[in-house]
Amino acid sequence: MGIGRGFGKTILFGEHFVVYGLPAIASALGSYTSAEVKVVDGKDFEVIDDRPATPGYKVKKYDEAMQSIKNVIEYMNIDIGCQKLEITFSGDLFAASGVGASAAQATALARALNDNFTLMWDDEKINEAAYEGERAYHGTPSGIDNTASTYGGLIWFVKNLKGGKNVMEILQSGKKMPLVIGNTGITASTVEVVADVRKLKEADPLRFEKIFSVYHSLAIDAKVALLEGDYIGIGKLMNQNHKLLQDIKVSGEINDRLVDIALKHGALGAKMTGTGRGGLVIALAENEKVQNNIASAIEAEGYDTWKTMIG
Ligand code: PMV
Repeated sequence: MGIGRGFGKTILFGEHFVVYGLPAIASALGSYTSAEVKVVDGKDFEVIDDRPATPGYKVKKYDEAMQSIKNVIEYMNIDIGCQKLEITFSGDLFAASGVGASAAQATALARALNDNFTLMWDDEKINEAAYEGERAYHGTPSGIDNTASTYGGLIWFVKNLKGGKNVMEILQSGKKMPLVIGNTGITASTVEVVADVRKLKEADPLRFEKIFSVYHSLAIDAKVALLEGDYIGIGKLMNQNHKLLQDIKVSGEINDRLVDIALKHGALGAKMTGTGRGGLVIALAENEKVQNNIASAIEAEGYDTWKTMIG
């Protein structure tokens, strides 16, 4: 039997912009997906998915999940013509749009296969296998999710648009910061939303150039603020990043509503995270008391929340 884990993640800065080679910053979550692989008689593979999940998520993502598992198995050259893999996914990461659930699943599987078949792959190769898994979901994923899922911690990430190695830097933040994740319960298609942004950009390249340049300096400021543990600065930059995501039309009404609730209840900053048009929002709190207040306010409106620490 082989076992493996992949962390969930949240994008603190730069979703969508990362697709165009701009830097993004992600933080791995403490929660993870685990995979257990057993080899049994037969051929092909069978999946038991025991992950906790947002209603509808597993059904909506079923085909992509199966393709992702296939991609990882193929990339790792595991022969399933003369043996069958029994794969069980579990763990405390709630499968929802925006927490990097798909990357965590692919990473966990890659690690479990590595363990079971004693392949001795290092993190870099596990990350590559997880990226292959991610391709089943995103079309052309930036790679930020599988990178955060594989390495953990706070990650500065720049996609190499020429297809070479991406830039990946682990940031050692000065402080741990309380974060609330609010779940809209809506699962948007990343492929569709990414394609919509591309269309908008093609229709008005000059406007996008300006937005990209504003975002670029914002990302550099965010890196410094994170390294210094400057909560207030990070909060402000999160608000500005949210505004830019509104400008490129990826924040849905529901995201804006949860962001407003968080800010009214003391968040230092709040933004949508991930694909948008539903999915998740994140809110930074200065301490656990404020973190609890924000979470309660969002829950009072009927939405799930998770509390975590970043940094
Ligand atoms: O919804 P998520 O957490 O999988 O994030 C998608 C992030 C995008 O920037 C929109 C796409 C990507 O490939 O980075």
